Amino acid sequence: MHSTPLNLRTHTCGDLRLSDIGKKVRLCGWVQTTRDFGKFIFIDIRDRFGITQVAVNQKEQSELYEFAKKLGREYVIQVVGTVAERSNKNPQIETGDIEIIPEVINLLNVAEVPPFKIENITDGGEELRMQYRYLDLRRPVMAQNLVLRAQMIQAMRRYLDAQGFLEIETPNLIKSTPEGARDFLVPSRLHPGTFYALPQSPQILKQLLMVSGMDRYYQIVKCFRDEDFRGDRQPEFTQLDCEMSFVTQDDILQTFGGLTQAVFKEILAVNLPEIQQLTYNDAIRFYGSDKPDLRFDVKIHTFSRSEITGIFPAFDEAFNKGETVAGICIPNAASLSRKELDELVNFVKTPNRNGKGLFYLKYNADNTLKSSADKFFSQEDLLLIAHSIQAKPEDLVLIVADISSKTYKILGDLRLELANKLSLRKPDVWSVLWVVDFPMFELDPETNQLIFVHHPFVAPNPDDLHLLETNPETVRAQCYDLVINGNEILSGSIRIHQRELQNRIFNILGLSEFEIQQKFGFLLRAFEYGAPPHGGCAFGIDRWCMLFAQGNSIRDVIAFPKTSGGRDIMLDAPATVPETALSELHISTQ
Ligand code: AMO
Repeated sequence: MHSTPLNLRTHTCGDLRLSDIGKKVRLCGWVQTTRDFGKFIFIDIRDRFGITQVAVNQKEQSELYEFAKKLGREYVIQVVGTVAERSNKNPQIETGDIEIIPEVINLLNVAEVPPFKIENITDGGEELRMQYRYLDLRRPVMAQNLVLRAQMIQAMRRYLDAQGFLEIETPNLIKSTPEGARDFLVPSRLHPGTFYALPQSPQILKQLLMVSGMDRYYQIVKCFRDEDFRGDRQPEFTQLDCEMSFVTQDDILQTFGGLTQAVFKEILAVNLPEIQQLTYNDAIRFYGSDKPDLRFDVKIHTFSRSEITGIFPAFDEAFNKGETVAGICIPNAASLSRKELDELVNFVKTPNRNGKGLFYLKYNADNTLKSSADKFFSQEDLLLIAHSIQAKPEDLVLIVADISSKTYKILGDLRLELANKLSLRKPDVWSVLWVVDFPMFELDPETNQLIFVHHPFVAPNPDDLHLLETNPETVRAQCYDLVINGNEILSGSIRIHQRELQNRIFNILGLSEFEIQQKFGFLLRAFEYGAPPHGGCAFGIDRWCMLFAQGNSIRDVIAFPKTSGGRDIMLDAPATVPETALSELHISTQ
């Protein structure tokens, strides 16, 4: 920080350098450590900008020396003194060439002994650190994450402001929005028995802003979704939410690809090449995922019947039933042990994957081939499989036969598992790509009913309009995701802006006229007043920031996150409330 001096301090604890020697300064901060060497006491004083050493000489400053001896960890002090060159320099820290010779040390506040070390490497477990989050955020690694987050948001704002976007706020007390999760509800005191819903996203509101003619909108906005937690999900999270009028899908990909490149450049000094597009179908077919990680070169190969000449019942049956036989080739993995291969077989069979089995083929360095079903294959049969998938000596081939969606999903998971296990990802490479041409609809496996893949306002690809009623599952949506290192960072679409088409989609989804009017009547009405063609997207800021911070969870980049169980253990929320508060809200918990 290099702002104008304030009354209590002239500099931060990260500012001073050799060029400041001789200056009279005032610093404020927390006592990181005091080190007593008899003749000197060194106090390390810390704020979020850095650490500065204060040197107190016993002989020359005996009163200060006695005072310094009593300073505890995390006491808050002000040091008034002169900058001097250090005899024993510390190249690890930016202020390591200088120290402060104090004239006065003022105690601004005392502190209890913190429950864990306020250092990058700490002894506190996650639960304890969440309980004392304000102390956890004093640790430089955590503070840096919040600085990074703020810088990323500044870079986003700069880019969008320069492109003529307006930052507009939308309300939080609204009506249910259809992002596919459960709503958080807020009871209304004034209107008994009715509830507001917190927005899962400002989707409908930003579309209405386009009807208003705002043309280019953005908002850094909190979204609320009552869904199950994972490392990359929080019940409240932040989006950079955007919408534009009079645009095609290409315009949007250009604009927000440009934003992505600008943020990479400004924050990481990385020049991303133009962001490539991959269709949803290819993402599934080649990588077994709609958010593929391309930092390593393993691609799924789908075998044709002629590429498998052995008579192996598992494969034969699959071919006969029209299922899919596909595999991956892992370079230099033929040396995996029997135990490691058995682990992969178990990985495939875990209940969430429910695979029937895993065929493996080792292409040994001496050109012999060894498979998990040798009695069904000659060496020639195995060689044909190896060549079809472009395996070389020392490679390992893994093959799955099942219904198509399961085969690709299992191979996609195996691909990632092996990348982790064998460190296949190239270091310092960013995998950034657009996944486009998502399907409009899918079948709900539980009810067997058609449901939307993203939300019901996504426009279908005009080339597929004729298939809407006859073959809806094959209809492509004008919908796109931005995927960074295998994480979905952005999702968006061109929206339907014509009432008739919107009604057709609602009908296909089986919504009754009553439901349509009740849920979306206001939107449909708005479409009748000259809605412009429009589209947009939303970035998940927490996820993107987590990647830049190289964190494992989005909790690392959120100031006050919820635990994986959805609780705020610092505030102790959610919590019960007094009966009187409930009765005012007309709520009975009996
Ligand atoms: P979607 O629901 O895909 O789209 O959300 C957009 C992006 O937000 C992030 N995200 C989350 N991050 C943390 N925790 C969560 N629970 C969570 N859920 C989503 C992801 C995701 O890509 N209204 C549409 C956008 C649009 O069409 O313009 C929407 O909300 O990074």
